[in-house]
Amino acid sequence: MDLATTLGPLRLPAPVLTASGCAAAGRELAQFFDIAELGAVVTKSIMMAPRAGRATPRMAETPSGMLNSIGLQGPGVEEFLGHDLPWLAERGVRTVVSIAGGSVEEFALLTRRLRGAPGMVALEVNISCPNVADRGLVFACRAGSAAEVIAAVRREAPRDLPVLAKLSPDVTDIVEIAQAVVEAGANGLSMINTLLGMVIDVDRAAPVLAGVTGGLSGPAIRPVAVRCIWQVHAAMPHVPILGMGGVRSGRDALELVLAGASAVAVGTATFGDPSAPLRVQDELRHELAVRGFASLADAVGLAHRRGARVSGAVGAHVAVERDESGRDGAPDTRDEAR
Ligand SMILES: Cc1cc2nc3c(=O)[nH]c(=O)nc-3n(C[C@H](O)[C@H](O)[C@H](O)COP(=O)(O)O)c2cc1C
Repeated sequence: MDLATTLGPLRLPAPVLTASGCAAAGRELAQFFDIAELGAVVTKSIMMAPRAGRATPRMAETPSGMLNSIGLQGPGVEEFLGHDLPWLAERGVRTVVSIAGGSVEEFALLTRRLRGAPGMVALEVNISCPNVADRGLVFACRAGSAAEVIAAVRREAPRDLPVLAKLSPDVTDIVEIAQAVVEAGANGLSMINTLLGMVIDVDRAAPVLAGVTGGLSGPAIRPVAVRCIWQVHAAMPHVPILGMGGVRSGRDALELVLAGASAVAVGTATFGDPSAPLRVQDELRHELAVRGFASLADAVGLAHRRGARVSGAVGAHVAVERDESGRDGAPDTRDEAR
């Protein structure tokens, strides 16, 4: 089974990654499995300065999900460069460095500071953070501000360093945002970040999280991730997607792949099972094999070919059956009722 994959110019020998913020800088997971076996480790979003994050409580369980308002706690870029990245590089781990900022300038400064960092194979740009200059409105929620950040990162990044833009599902038209960041220079898209949610403790009649609202993740959001990946892949089939959102098993990962993801990241599942990323990778290999696929690449976006039967022995030799209208292409679902 050929599990190798590409995200634009980024070549990975394996398709499962950690999702940003769910495995810090990989150190904690290394006691459970060899993290170099994953496609890559995506680090917690790093900012210029150290940050304590939001007040506690900042986690809450929800039906089939989890709400967090960590608030981008982190050591700052200097500590990250001196401590975390060398540790990953020494172990031969491919590292995707996630960056976050409160301004376009902070994203640009971070990118410049990270130039030539050891072991860094790509940058993931977390644009789901508040833009201080725009009343705290999240960059990812407007095509203009999302594109501005990506253009600044692209300008500062070495030409051959892949840049992935991480998109928020909390938008009316995710395809519009995706198109804007790709035009601004993103080589690929990571999707989806958490959905904004809130929980109220009815006995105290008060919000559970000190930060009031938080990001919803876990199995509850997987259908949203599948829908977002589907819509973007339908509109831009040549733009590579790193999919994430509620993946707990190889079967879940395959669902995102069939929607159009070329690689999959595992986040929340890691809190309950620290081995989840490698387990999901092994299970994905099995799920592909039992369906007769010769490679992961054969499965990417396969569900878009409407008539294709994707259960049973199909794969490298899939005969795409056309539906009655004779179409086998990817329909534009953007106008369908949401
Ligand atoms: C506790 C926690 C912290 C997170 N921190 C970040 C972060 O720093 N940067 C980022 O881009 N996404 C962050 N995320 C979002 C995840 O990377 C991922 O996009 C999202 O949780 C959906 O995947 P999952 O359902 O597998 O967790 C965080 C998620 C959780 C649960």
